Order: sequence, then C-alpha cells, then structure tokens
Amino acid sequence: MSLIKEVDYGTKLATSATMVTLTIDGERVTVAQGTSVMAAAMSMGTQIPKLCATDMLEAFGSCRLCLVEIEGRRGTPASCTTPAENGMVVHTQNDRLAKLRKGVMELYISDHPLDCLTCPANGDCELQDMAGAVGLREVRYGTDGANHLDGAKDESNPYFSFDESKCIVCSRCVRACEEVQGTFALTIQGRGFDSKVASAGVDFLSSECVSCGACVQACPTATLSEKSIIAMGQPEHSKVTTCAYCGVGCSFKAEMQGERVVRMVPFKDGKANEGHSCVKGRFAYGYATSKDRITKPMIRAAITDPWREVSWDEAFDYAASEFKRIQAQYGRDSVGAITSSRCTNEEVFVMQKLVRAGFGNNNVDTCARVCHSPTGYGLKTTFGTSAGTQDFKSVEKSDVILVIGANPTDAHPVFASRMKRRLRAGAKLIVVDPRRIDLVKSPHVRASYHLPLLPGSNVAMINALAHVIVTEGLVDEAFVRERCDIADFENWARFIASEENAPEAVESITGVKPADVRAAARLFARGGNGAIYYGLGVTEHSQGSTMVMGMANLAMVTGNLGREGVGVNPLRGQNNVQGACDMGSFPHEFSGYRHVSDEATRDMFEQLWGVTLDHEPGMRIPNMLDEAVGGGFKGLYVQGEDIAQSDPDTKHVVAGLEGMECVIVQDLFLNETAKYAHVFFPGASFLEKDGTFTNAERRINRVRKVMAPMAGLADWEVTLGFAKALGFAMHYDHPSEIMDEIAQLTPTFRNVSYARLEELGSVQWPCTEAAPTGTPIMHVDHFVRGKGRFMITQYVPTEERAGPLFPLLLTTGRILTQYNVGAQTRRTLNNVWHGEDVLEIHPFDAESRGVREGDLVALASRIGEVSLHACITDRMQPGVVYTTFHHPNSGANVVTTDNSDWATNCPEYKVTAVQVRRTNYYSSWQDQDRETGVSLRRIAREAADAAE
Ligand code: SF4
Ligand code: SF4
Ligand code: SF4
Ligand code: FES
Repeated sequence: MSLIKEVDYGTKLATSATMVTLTIDGERVTVAQGTSVMAAAMSMGTQIPKLCATDMLEAFGSCRLCLVEIEGRRGTPASCTTPAENGMVVHTQNDRLAKLRKGVMELYISDHPLDCLTCPANGDCELQDMAGAVGLREVRYGTDGANHLDGAKDESNPYFSFDESKCIVCSRCVRACEEVQGTFALTIQGRGFDSKVASAGVDFLSSECVSCGACVQACPTATLSEKSIIAMGQPEHSKVTTCAYCGVGCSFKAEMQGERVVRMVPFKDGKANEGHSCVKGRFAYGYATSKDRITKPMIRAAITDPWREVSWDEAFDYAASEFKRIQAQYGRDSVGAITSSRCTNEEVFVMQKLVRAGFGNNNVDTCARVCHSPTGYGLKTTFGTSAGTQDFKSVEKSDVILVIGANPTDAHPVFASRMKRRLRAGAKLIVVDPRRIDLVKSPHVRASYHLPLLPGSNVAMINALAHVIVTEGLVDEAFVRERCDIADFENWARFIASEENAPEAVESITGVKPADVRAAARLFARGGNGAIYYGLGVTEHSQGSTMVMGMANLAMVTGNLGREGVGVNPLRGQNNVQGACDMGSFPHEFSGYRHVSDEATRDMFEQLWGVTLDHEPGMRIPNMLDEAVGGGFKGLYVQGEDIAQSDPDTKHVVAGLEGMECVIVQDLFLNETAKYAHVFFPGASFLEKDGTFTNAERRINRVRKVMAPMAGLADWEVTLGFAKALGFAMHYDHPSEIMDEIAQLTPTFRNVSYARLEELGSVQWPCTEAAPTGTPIMHVDHFVRGKGRFMITQYVPTEERAGPLFPLLLTTGRILTQYNVGAQTRRTLNNVWHGEDVLEIHPFDAESRGVREGDLVALASRIGEVSLHACITDRMQPGVVYTTFHHPNSGANVVTTDNSDWATNCPEYKVTAVQVRRTNYYSSWQDQDRETGVSLRRIAREAADAAE
C-alpha cells in the first residue's frame, strides 16, 4: 500500500477541441489550446518549479519561480500565465533560469523559519521541495533584518491551524476560498513587506469561514495545516473512498497510518467534487472511532431490561428465533425491515432480498420514504425514470438556475460551490423558499428573484410560473410537439391557463407579489438554459409528488430537458438515498423500479433466488407503525436508521415501536430507536467496509475499506448472518459478488461491476450495453417513458393551516455543520458551530410575543410541544418559524404532524401550524428524554469501556 499522489499540472488543463503543438526542452508536445506552458510541460512529465500555481486555481503569476525562456521572446515569462502556442520553442532549464530561481527561493527562505525537521509539513511541503528542485544551498540574507518569523498562530478552528510565521503570501489560500469554495473569507491585507493573509473576523472561527478546507489543501507550506497532521505526522498509505454524509458523494483519499485515519483529502479525480470538500466530509469523520460506538452484539427480552452482550451467533440465533416465533404466531406479514440510505448499495440489496425471499413478504421500506419518495413517483410518472436528469457538471452550462425548497450551501455544500461558480460567471438565479437562504445574497452572488412563498404553497407557485409561460406565449412549442404527449399537453395547458392559476389569483395562497412571479417566469423561459434544483422543501409536503410533477411540467414546457445546462435535479439528502431507492427498498418495487406485480420481473428474481415471491406490495413505514399500534405487526429490523428521531409524530412512532415484540436495531450507536429495541447489531462505518454509494446524479462511487470492522463484521455480513439463522442462507464472499447479482437482475445496472468502477472511477446509471460507460444526461433524444407526460397539478391546500390557536407555520431544515439527526456530527468537533437546535423567528413575531434573543420558547403544535432557544432573524418572514433537527433533545418531530404526501406517504415535515411563547421550562417529553438519554449514554459508555 502506498500514498496516492495526484499530479498537479500547475494550472487547469484546457478542454478546447483545437490543439496546439510546441517544443519543450527539445521534445514536441501537443495540448489543447488554452493550456499553459507549465501544464503542457507537466503533461510530458517535466515539472517546472512553482509556488503560487496549483491546478485547482486560476494562474496568478506572483512568485516568479516558474520562469522559462521562449525562443523569439524577450525576457523570462512565467510559464503558469503563458499559454502554449503552435510552434513555440520553450526551454525550462538553463543556467540563467537556475540563477533567477535560486534568487527567488533565497528571498523566500530568508524569511522562513528553518525548522524543517520539526515542521508538521516535513515530507509534504512544496517550499521544501522547491528549495531542493532549484538546488538552494545557501541563503545570503540573514534573519537579522525585518522579518515575519514571530508571526501569530491562529488555533481557533477546531480542525486546522494557521501559523503566520510560515506564510509566503502566495495567496493560494485566498484564491481557493474565492474560486473553489466561493466564500471570500480571506484576503491579503497590506502591501509589499507588510502584506499578510487575514480573515474578516478576529480569527478563523469568528470569520465567514465555513471550514471547507480548500485553503488548507491549497497551502504549499505548513502555514495552514490540519491539526491531525500536527498531532500524528504524515500518512503512509491511502485509499480512495466516498464521503458517507450527503448526496453529493464526494470522493476522498483516506490517508492513513496503519488503520488510523490521519486525514481525509478530497480527490481531484472524483467526478462529483473534483477535489473540493465541505467541513463534514473533510474533517468530521471522528465519529467512526468514537468511544460511543457499540462493538458487541446485545440482546434483551424486554426494553426495560438491561442489555446483555452476546456473541454474534447468539445474537443471530436469538433474533431469528424471535422473528420465526412472531411469524408463526401472527402470520407471515407481521415482520418487516427498514433499509438505510447510509449503507451501501450492496447492503441495501441484501436487506431487501432478506425480506422478500427470507421473510416471504414485501414489508421493506427505506428512509427515502421520509425524504425523496415523491421524487421517485413524480419523475417516473412524467419522464419514466425515478432519478434526476443531469450530472453535476451540467450546471456549468446553465443560464438560469431555479432553486426550489433547497438550501445547497448548507445541505449540499460542494455542489453549491460549483453552482456559485457558475452564478459568479453570469448565470441568473431564482430562489423559491420561505426563508432567505444564503444563496439569495452571498459574496458576488445575488438572486434575480427571491420568491418567499408561504410553507405549503409550492404547487400554487409552480402552477403560477407555468401559467405565465403558457398565457404569455413562452412555450417551447417545438420541444413540446416533438418530445411530449400532445393530448396530455393540451389538457394540461387548458388547466394551467385558467385564471385560478394566475399569479394574482394565488397571491393570497403564496404570499408572493404577482409581478415578481411573472418576472421570474419570463426569466426562466427566455433566459437560455434553465435548470431546476430542488430539495426536501419540495418533497416533504402533502402535495410533494404533485410539486415534483409541476417542476417536470415546467421543464418540459420550456424545453429544458435532454442536454447540458438544464433538467430537473433533486438534491438528495443522505449519501446513498438514490442507491437505496434503486436497490429495491420500496415495498412495491424490485431493484430498478420494477413493480412486484410484474410477472416477468418476478420470475427472473424467483429463478435466481430459488423462492416464490409475493406479488402484492408490502407495508410502508407508516403502515408498519400503524399496524404495530393496532397489534398486527410485531417484528422490525431497522438498519442504519433512527426512526424514533427522524420520523414525524414521535409519540406515534414510539407507540408503534413499543407495540412490537422484537425490534432489531443495527447502528453504530445506541440511537433513539434502540431505546425500544430487543436486539442490537453493531454497525460498521463507511471506513470499515467495501461497497458502493450512488449519489444525487446517479453516480455509482466505490467505498473502500481502510480498517477492519470494529465489531468484526461489515453490515452486509451481519444481514447474511441473520438470514442464515433464519434459514435463508445467502452466499457472497465479497460485495463485488453482490454487485454482480444486482447487475444481472437490474437492466439499468447491467454493465456495472467492480472491474468497471476500477477502470472508470465511477459510472452514472443507466450503465448498459448501449451506454457502457454510463449516462451523464438522461432523456437526450426521447424520454425513458417515450413521450414526456404533462400531469395536471391541481393545488390542494394542506390540512395544516395557521389559525387563531396556532398562528405561525413551522418549517424545518439543515445546517452545514450538522447532519441529519446528528448521530455522526454530534460526535465530532462540529458541535463548536452548532451545539443545539434553535428556533428562528422574525423580529416582528418575536416582539409581539415578548421574546428576546436567546430566550427559551415553547413551540407547540396540535401534536406536541418542545422548548428551544430563540434566534431572532429577518431571514424569516413574519408568520413563519424555522428549526433544524440535529439534536435529539430538541424534538422537532415531537411537533410535526402525521400529514403526508398523497402518493407516497412522505411526511409533511415542512408545514406545521404552531404557537410560540416564552417559557422557562422544557417540555415533559424533553425531560423524560433527557433521563432516558442519560441512561442510554451510560450504557453505551459502559459497553465501550468493556470493549477496551
Ligand atoms: S497561508 Fe499558505 S496558501 Fe495562504 S498565502 Fe500563506 S503560504 Fe500561501
Ligand atoms: S476553510 Fe474554506 S471557507 Fe474557510 S477560509 Fe479556508 S477556503 Fe475559506
Ligand atoms: S458535500 Fe456532502 S458528500 Fe461532499 S464532503 Fe460535504 S457532506 Fe460529504
Ligand atoms: S508558479 Fe508561476 S509565477 Fe508562481
């Protein structure tokens, strides 16, 4: 095993189709027009010394180390800023250049601490490398004069430190923050000798810095260094793997010492992130080795009993005997399972196989039920495929970007950086969101329109936008005629043109000025390539599926499908929510979204698996819980999911769990659901297993094992162990064999294999004989379903409305530094930024209730009540309050209702009528939860201590 070193070309490689040929040091080389001389040299293996250049950034030309001679030109131009030209003859090494470079290096080194042996960057320092490369042997200038050697240290960031004394003011960090991340948190302050890197705050922690690590990555010295490197030293081997947080699916090099992660470095060849990262994937991986990890299987007869640690075999036998007893006593359909969007495709596949073939029913569902199930339904109905239409790169060709119900800078930060790059380059932005998210106004990005609609009015808004397009003659008629079902279109056009959908008519529903809606619609229709990006602010509504179809209608009517720069793009929440859906986690579908009632498909599965399969759809999560409360559902296997915290109406979820006789929880930690469990299977983190995740752009990325599973088994092996004890043995020696079975049974995965993934790095499904390297853009010549289908999207108000008793509307979301229910991020230093969930409230609503900043307020709905601290902000509009749900004790889902999407049962998390008042006590639910939480933590700690 060795350390993977990626080539740094110094500047970006150009992509022009026009090629130029030049001669460098006597050798001819052909490169794309626009490539720099430095990159051209690097492409033939000649490294020109450099300091201020790196290929993640635009060329800057400040250090003057990369000088070359070009025949016929005067002077010694910088190779990083000089484009290669046809016929150019370049010399990179001669005495004159060597002398000049030595002189430059001498100046740098004369103001640099010469503590290489004890420096954290020793062995990974470009300054050190360049001193070697130019043959620097002496420094004529002493350190007696003015220098920066006593520069201050900034240790405020929990993950990296800034040591000013080592800074060469190359500006790579400043440019990385601007060009790669788009935050503009750093600047070069002062001029000449006095110039230095500065952040806008007192220190990094108090500045605008979002701790993405791009500056650390870019820094050629030890000035910006990961604290893990300072503490542990340099890594000695690495493997490329995939982040286990959000649906962007960033690739990282896990850089290791033995089985210890030293750091996670974003991988430049990763197609989803191209070398960028966010604070979660880059730094917040410490949860994987947290002391809270449970590493021994545990069982107990009743949830009031203490846990008893047992061997894997005893745990499997106990769980299997319970499930067999339950099925014998209550019937075949009395058990089921929930797959995890945090687990790999292979693990999800074997889970649903266990249910369908081992349990003999289709009672399998997934956490996508509570986030993106309407995406699957809506896009399949209109286009024929349950997935987004584009690759991430597509946004670079967009002219108008419509962001609806998504907050990319917090929830999908690496994609947000890419989107912001395009916006800074001139694309227009329309934001449809009740809250003023960061994108609306951030450095060098301003939304042309922010339509701050009221929660619950999405469908009225999308209909109003489409109404303007249809009634003002902005329809892309050629596209509609050629690509869509005309009868459906005409039917829809009549519906959408009716006055009830006019912006003026829906103003009382959306709360948005009609003139802004009209202007935004015109911009989207006329502005060139229009792309729609959306998130849970679309799907988690009682009309989530209707809204997804409404966006599909809007894309079709404006001809914005089937090429780069356009499309309908769900920003998926969890790392493998796309994959969990693809793998057949829904009770009505096999992998590849084929209905269980389809005989030909079922036949194929039955033949390979050697069992008879149920042709009736099974129960969804809400049905399982309802049945459990009713007494007919008794056994549940929950893998990597915390339904007691993440699902709506917590009291109902708890009642369901309490009604069951055997709940199996498989997780890294004793989560909230484990309070009601009888069997605990310890889970494995993404660092402990092989497999694949599929991101929001349908990209299948490899997950690679870098350390042994702490509990001895990877998650797929646990499922196999349980299945075997149940009497349904599955035989795989490696996850690649599971993928082979997936490919055999799933047409859209037909050409996917681990060998192909090794060869290509990643592929986007469909990956078939016709598209052996995958499909970046869907529906290019025709829709998967043939003709695009316009669907009627009648606005139906949710039952959840503000009224005298509950006058405010609560909506929920995520924050950058925490993730989902916080099980992972709460166990990292990310708590520095977000230690508790707060209630955001508009100053007007706060004042009228006598609420001051930081006050404890009671947040009550018709379902329940919790207390949170108030954060008064004009991000919110009057009448709407907002919170996150990362901390269990906040209990956001104690107040959310059991309303759900009409088609998919996706809960309506985004609309809850609430009242807010000052209080000085926590709710009884929170008090009770505190007590249980404390005892659970104690048990977890004892188990961890026992394991040591
Ligand atoms: S901190 Fe690093 S990247 Fe930034 S100017 Fe100093 S040496 Fe260059
Ligand atoms: S960590 Fe990211 S946001 Fe913070 S200063 Fe560095 S590049 Fe900018
Ligand atoms: S953007 Fe998402 S996938 Fe990428 S590093 Fe951050 S959390 Fe991980
Ligand atoms: S690397 Fe070219 S001027 Fe610095």
